[in-house]
Amino acid sequence: MFSMMREALAAMPWLILAMSPLANAACECGYSVNASTSDQFTSYTDLMENDFLHTVVDNITEAGWRVQVYNVSSTVLPPQPYGKNFTLENVESNPLKDKYSWTGDSENGGDAGLRLWVRGDTSNGYVQSAEVASVREDILHGSFRIGMKLSGAGATCGAFFWFHSDAQEIDMEFLSKDFTDTQSLVNLVLQTPESVAAGYDASNTSEYKKQPLYFRPDEKVHEYRYDWAPGSVKFYVDGTFVYEMTENIPVDAGHMLMNHWSNGNALWSGGPPKQDTYLTVTYVKSYFNTTNTAKNNAYKSRCANWNATQVCEIPTQTVAPDPSGADGNTTANTYFFSLDGTDKVPGQDVYPSTNGGSSLFGSTSISIYVPVMVALFSWAFAI
Ligand SMILES: *[C@@H]1O[C@H](CO)[C@@H](O)[C@H](O)[C@H]1NC(C)=O
Ligand SMILES: *[C@@H]1O[C@H](CO)[C@@H](O)[C@H](O)[C@H]1NC(C)=O
Ligand SMILES: *[C@@H]1O[C@H](CO)[C@@H](O)[C@H](O)[C@H]1NC(C)=O
Ligand SMILES: *[C@@H]1O[C@H](CO)[C@@H](O)[C@H](O)[C@H]1NC(C)=O
Ligand SMILES: *[C@@H]1O[C@H](CO)[C@@H](O)[C@H](O)[C@H]1NC(C)=O
Ligand SMILES: *[C@@H]1O[C@H](CO)[C@@H](O)[C@H](O)[C@H]1NC(C)=O
Ligand SMILES: *[C@@H]1O[C@H](CO)[C@@H](O)[C@H](O)[C@H]1NC(C)=O
Ligand SMILES: *[C@@H]1O[C@H](CO)[C@@H](O)[C@H](O)[C@H]1NC(C)=O
Repeated sequence: MFSMMREALAAMPWLILAMSPLANAACECGYSVNASTSDQFTSYTDLMENDFLHTVVDNITEAGWRVQVYNVSSTVLPPQPYGKNFTLENVESNPLKDKYSWTGDSENGGDAGLRLWVRGDTSNGYVQSAEVASVREDILHGSFRIGMKLSGAGATCGAFFWFHSDAQEIDMEFLSKDFTDTQSLVNLVLQTPESVAAGYDASNTSEYKKQPLYFRPDEKVHEYRYDWAPGSVKFYVDGTFVYEMTENIPVDAGHMLMNHWSNGNALWSGGPPKQDTYLTVTYVKSYFNTTNTAKNNAYKSRCANWNATQVCEIPTQTVAPDPSGADGNTTANTYFFSLDGTDKVPGQDVYPSTNGGSSLFGSTSISIYVPVMVALFSWAFAI
């Protein structure tokens, strides 16, 4: 029935115009981590959300990301056991078959989501690896969240990070050799002028923390997050605060990245893996400020009179958003402003999700629009 209505809507674009005064554009003044009543309140103007369980694209640039294609020879200083070759083929979109579900079989088998592969064939001295970067490079301060299940091959590094330069970088890096049944960890790292001076080695700086995890990151999807504010980077795991850094905090705009690689270095990635292995990203959700003039002007015009009632609070993800297991359809069904109706993303760039069918509107919008449509249709039929 909804699909019939959507077709009807698509055929009558004037309906949208007719209805727009009824739409409550809730988030015109941005998004905030904390309630506006909190003394910690700050808002972000822009969002970027990717629902990779339901992203069907031939070219990931349609989803706001670029595959990075480059290689690093093993002889580049400091020399490593293997080179790295980042390729297009190693980034795979593998959505769920059932677009109405948040669990179930994936199109290509294995875990559903965006998969970053590291290959086991290293016979040419290079490890075939994967990296993607956000097209947007205007990202300055924000809350950055990824739903991710790491590889368990014991031989790779998987990372979710933000980059401006070698001296301004925020990293969450997972080494699969650190995952055991008794303890696991994530490396929280800022690359800073200090780490550059130490030969790009952050290990002896105050912006390096081996954060214990009380689960194996290769068993389920968990949410990893960092909130970057002026003078502070706070790290979170499944919504729980774990660590804060306050020195050498980045000050310039940059972009987000995710990668999965190995170079055989026993002190870091380990490996290389003997078989093909992947990590899986089920979503990325980022709420941030921008240095882009057009975006800032658009914000100023849609939020001409700043009002806290037009700032939307970002829900905190407090459980592992894992799609496997009996509760997968509930636990992996996490909140996206961009799936909650066009009124929640005014002026934002939104990326494709097939959730609920190739939907023009999210389910909430449908419930807002249906009564209006019924009224209009009955009026039409009465004529
Ligand atoms: C939200 O509030 C908490 C304290 O309740 C604080 O630690 C955190 O920095 C605040 N975050 C943001 C982005 O406002
Ligand atoms: C983000 O930008 C908004 C609008 O300019 C501003 O009110 C807010 O303080 C900024 N937040 C941070 C953390 O810089
Ligand atoms: C993907 O799309 C972008 C932007 O349209 C384009 O520049 C790029 O060449 C495309 N990549 C591939 C592999 O087709
Ligand atoms: C490695 O990358 C360089 C560009 O940096 C390219 O010219 C070269 O063809 C690549 N080599 C291989 C073997 O892929
Ligand atoms: C890197 O991968 C490309 C395929 O994308 C391949 O053509 C090239 O030979 C590879 N280079 C190395 C050094 O493995
Ligand atoms: C998951 O829940 C959605 C409603 O959110 C429902 O349409 C779908 O059929 C459910 N899928 C499974 C596998 O239970
Ligand atoms: C780190 O600092 C300690 C103590 O200053 C020193 O012994 C060690 O060699 C340093 N390690 C690195 C990798 O620089
Ligand atoms: C903010 O918006 C609310 C709800 O629309 C309204 O009642 C209130 O007067 C507004 N506040 C200001 C300062 O404009």
